[in-house]
Amino acid sequence: MNTQGKLRVSRYDLGTPMMPCKDEILAKFEKFLVSGQYILGHEVQQLEKELAAECGVAEAVGVASGSSALFLALAMAGVRPGDEVITTPYTFEATIEALILLDATPVLVDIQPTDLNIDLKKIEAAITDKTRAILPVHIFGAPCDMHGIEALAAEHGLEVVVDMAQAFGTMYDGKPCASFGRMNTLSFYPTKNLPGIGDGGMVFCRDAEDADRIRKIRGHQAVRMNGHLYCGWNSRLDEVQAMVIRIRHSRFAAEQKDRDEVGRIYDSFIPRANRLVMPNGCRGMRVTHHQYWVRAEDRKGLQSLLSTQGIDTGVYYDPPMNRHDLAEYCRIFGPLDEAERAGREILVLPIHAALPFDDARRIGEMVGKFLARSATSANS
Ligand SMILES: Cc1ncc(COP(=O)(O)O)c(C=O)c1O
Repeated sequence: MNTQGKLRVSRYDLGTPMMPCKDEILAKFEKFLVSGQYILGHEVQQLEKELAAECGVAEAVGVASGSSALFLALAMAGVRPGDEVITTPYTFEATIEALILLDATPVLVDIQPTDLNIDLKKIEAAITDKTRAILPVHIFGAPCDMHGIEALAAEHGLEVVVDMAQAFGTMYDGKPCASFGRMNTLSFYPTKNLPGIGDGGMVFCRDAEDADRIRKIRGHQAVRMNGHLYCGWNSRLDEVQAMVIRIRHSRFAAEQKDRDEVGRIYDSFIPRANRLVMPNGCRGMRVTHHQYWVRAEDRKGLQSLLSTQGIDTGVYYDPPMNRHDLAEYCRIFGPLDEAERAGREILVLPIHAALPFDDARRIGEMVGKFLARSATSANS
């Protein structure tokens, strides 16, 4: 708080949540320096074991980034040049880039307004004989309709690879979200809920053979699969990142509790029509609020009001991928009205492990009042 009683709230605070871990990190780092085990050592192995067990999958493979994880998982799921992969336009570039780099065609279908995730009802009509896979993204930590997607994929013989970069800790139907789909990809980018202090990623595999292939490729070994020879390269998770992520992981549950509370506070001020509502109800679902979003027709007005009060907000994903430069590589399926509307209307509020609940109350109240005033003037 500054002297005029204004809040100074940034969207992220990456340093403060690291402080309780500082001594442990430094002590481990000193040991690590003298150990000489700098690449794919004990920390990576332990992290893989711990997260695979927690996520309910056979194996997890640490890789260089969430982007690398996507590329490797899609390749090892058999996505080949010329294949089509159905995905969402309302996502970060990395989702689409991985497909383009594999010479596959991203097929963009619309999202649902309630949770901003891919709309199951739009997927089936987009399937052609070139479709190889469905690539859902649990955007901002809210789970997609995985039963529906898995059933559709099984009916049409398609693979499911899930981009869970933003969704560590997210639950679907009582299970960790990584236990749905053939493979799931995670990012440890420093802004993520389970962060490193640099780049890192992971592929969660239900099938140990997928994990084995990805382990080979990340360490320069070629892999032969379905009559194709895949070239290896360097996509290893760094040992220092794995060490820091393990320490942060020990605090994840407590930090997530605080995020949950901030989410509840915001929910109490913001009307349902302007925020996340799980379309399938909340039984067995857990949203991790990688971002807390609010929908405002007058987004610019809301953003500048919050900015004058010292509150940092963010615009995501504007333009959505169907109007991004990369759309040139995509097939756009049908009108993408909800993705367009999300691109125009969604604003994300501060949410992080160090955000004081009082700040969240004040922000929630301001946003709630702004939305109520906008609704009144629209009706008058
Ligand atoms: C939805 C999504 N997919 C993929 C990625 C890529 O992860 P990374 O930055 O670790 O490569 C991100 C990162 O922000 C993301 O948000």
